[in-house]
Amino acid sequence: MVTTDVVVVGTGPAGASMALALARLGVDHIVVTRYETLAAEPRAHITNQRTMEVLRDLGVSDQVEALSTPQDQIGTTTFCTSLAGEELGRVRSWGTDPHSQAAHRLASPARICDMPQNLMEPILVQAAQRAGSRIRFSTEYLSHAVDDDGVTVSVRDRLRDDTYEIRAKYLYGADGGRSKVAENAGLPMRGEMGVAGSLNIVFRADLTPWVAHRPSVLYWVLQPGSDVGGIGMGVVRMVRPWNEWLTIWGYDVADGPPDLSDEYTRGLVRRLVGVDDLEVEIVGSSAWTVNHMAAEHYGRGRVFCGGDAVHRHPPSNGLGSNTSIQDSFNLAWKLAYVLRGAADPALLDTYSDERAPIGRQVVDRANQSIGETGRIFDALGVSGTDDPEVMKANMARRREPGAEKQRRELREAIAFKAYEFDAHGVELNQRYVSSAVVPDSLAPDPLASAEDPELHHVPSTTPGARVPHVWLAGRHGDVSTVDLAGHGRFTLFTGPGGTWPASELVHVIVVGPGEEIEDPYGDWARLLAAEGIADSGGVLVRPDHHVAARFASVPDDPAAVLEQTMRCALRAG
Ligand code: FDA
Repeated sequence: MVTTDVVVVGTGPAGASMALALARLGVDHIVVTRYETLAAEPRAHITNQRTMEVLRDLGVSDQVEALSTPQDQIGTTTFCTSLAGEELGRVRSWGTDPHSQAAHRLASPARICDMPQNLMEPILVQAAQRAGSRIRFSTEYLSHAVDDDGVTVSVRDRLRDDTYEIRAKYLYGADGGRSKVAENAGLPMRGEMGVAGSLNIVFRADLTPWVAHRPSVLYWVLQPGSDVGGIGMGVVRMVRPWNEWLTIWGYDVADGPPDLSDEYTRGLVRRLVGVDDLEVEIVGSSAWTVNHMAAEHYGRGRVFCGGDAVHRHPPSNGLGSNTSIQDSFNLAWKLAYVLRGAADPALLDTYSDERAPIGRQVVDRANQSIGETGRIFDALGVSGTDDPEVMKANMARRREPGAEKQRRELREAIAFKAYEFDAHGVELNQRYVSSAVVPDSLAPDPLASAEDPELHHVPSTTPGARVPHVWLAGRHGDVSTVDLAGHGRFTLFTGPGGTWPASELVHVIVVGPGEEIEDPYGDWARLLAAEGIADSGGVLVRPDHHVAARFASVPDDPAAVLEQTMRCALRAG
C-alpha cells in the first residue's frame, strides 16, 4: 500500500497552499486532484495583504507580484449603466483611497494585488513540487476510513480507471464547495446552498477606451434585470488590463441557468459594455450559485477540511481564496509539529476552534455585501422594476436641481460599498481564540473598543492576533516583524534586558541598540509600551504569525516560564 503522513485532496488555493506549506515544513504528503489540469478559469482574484504575507513566508510572493495586476490599477470601482454609458459613481477600493493607502502601508509589509486563480494555482503547485510534494493529477478521492492509528484513503486513478488506497496519518479535504471529504467526515454544515444564480463569461476584448481613465478590477453595471440573482448587479471584471475580462450576470435559480450559447454570451457582454458591435472573443462560460453555508467544525478525528469545503459564499469582498490559503497556513504547522512529536495531537483541534469563527464571519460578510448593493437601486428609485423606461426616468430625475435628496442617497449608498471593497479590518483583524493561545491581563484588545473593526485594521499584540507589522532595521536593510516571525518556528521578540533563552523550539530575537535587529524609529517599542510590555518582556509569535503569548517583563526564571508557555501553546501540558 502507498503510505504517507498527510493526504491532501485538491489543488485549488487551499490544497495547493497546504501542499507548499507541508513541503517546506518537511512533512511527507501526497496530493490527489481530480482533473489533469489546474483551474482554467480566472475565478478568485483579489489577493489581500494577509495572504501576501503568507505567500512571503512560503517563498512565492515575488512570483505572484510579478504576474499580478498591482494595487494602483485595481481600485476605481465604478458603477455605471454600461461601460460606455452613464457613470453613476465610484468608490475607491482595495486600499487606494489615500487614507486607506496609509493604513495599508502601516499594516503590512505586503501589498494587496489582483491575481487570477488560473495564474496563482500553477505558482503554488510548481513551488510545492520543487519542495517535495508528490502530486497525483487525474486522481479522485472516493472515500476514507479512520482508525486509531491513521486513515485509509481510497482514490481512483482516472487514467487507468482503477482504484487504490493510500495509508496516511491525516487527511486534509481541500476539495471545494462540493466537498466529498467534508460530507464523508460528516462535518456539520449550517446555512443554505443555491441562494441565487450567477453566470461567468470569460472573454477577450480591448476595452481600453472605456476603462483606462478609471483603472479598476470591477465595473458594476446597472441594467434592467441586474437585481435578479447573482451578486447584486452585473459586473465586468478585469482579468488582465485591458483585454481579458470576465462578466458576471445573475439568473433566477428557480428557472435554472439560461442556454450559454455563443450568441447569448456575446450579446450579454456587448450589452454590459454598451457597444453593439464590440469585437468579442468568448473564451468560456459557466453557471454557479451564490451560497451561504459554513461548517461548524472543520475536523473530525484525523480528518480536516479547509477552503470552500467548509465555507461557501459569493465572491463579494474577495475573500474566497484568501480565506482558503489562510486556513491551510493555520493547520500546516500544527500537523508538522504533531507529526514530529513536538506537539500533542490535541493541538490539531485548535484548527477548527480558530478558523471556524472566521469562516462564518466571512460567509456572513460576503452575503451581507450583496444585500447592501440594494441601497443603490433604492437611491436611484429603480428597485423592483424591470421596465427600462421607468428605470431611465427615475434615474434621470437625479439630474434635476431639486433632486438633492436622491443625489445624497446615491452618494451614500455607493460610499457604503466600502464595506465590500475597502474592508481592511475584515481582511486583517482576525483574532484566534483557542486553548493554544495564552490569554493575559495586559492591556485589553483595542479591537473591542474600535470604532469600525470591519473597515479599519486594529493592530495589537493581544494573544491570538496576528503580530503587528513594524519595520525594523536589520544588518542588510529594513525587515518587517511579520517576516522575522514564521518560517515554521516560534519566535520570541524581546528587548534589552530580556534574558530569554533560545531553545530548539523558540527562536529569540532581541530588538534594541547594538543588536542584530534595531528599532531606529522606536515604533516597536512604542507599540509594546502602549500594551504594557517592558523592554525585557516579550511577544511569543507562532509559526503562522499569530501571537501565542506575551510577557510584561522578564520573570525570575524565564526558561521555566517559556517552557510552560510552550507546553500550553502546543497543547502538551
Ligand atoms: P477549489 O474549488 O478552488 O478547489 C477544489 C479542488 O479540489 C480542485 O483542484 C478540484 O479539482 C479538487 N477536487 C474536488 N473534488 C475532488 C475529488 N473528489 N478528488 C480529488 N480532487 C477533487 N472567489 C473570489 O474570491 N472571487 C471570484 O471572483 C470568484 N469567482 C468564482 C467563480 C466560480 C465559477 C467559482 C466556482 C468560484 C469562484 N470563487 C471566487 C471562489 C473561489 O474560487 C474559491 O473560494 C476558491 O477557489 C476556494 O479554494 P479551494 O481550494 O477551497 O477550492
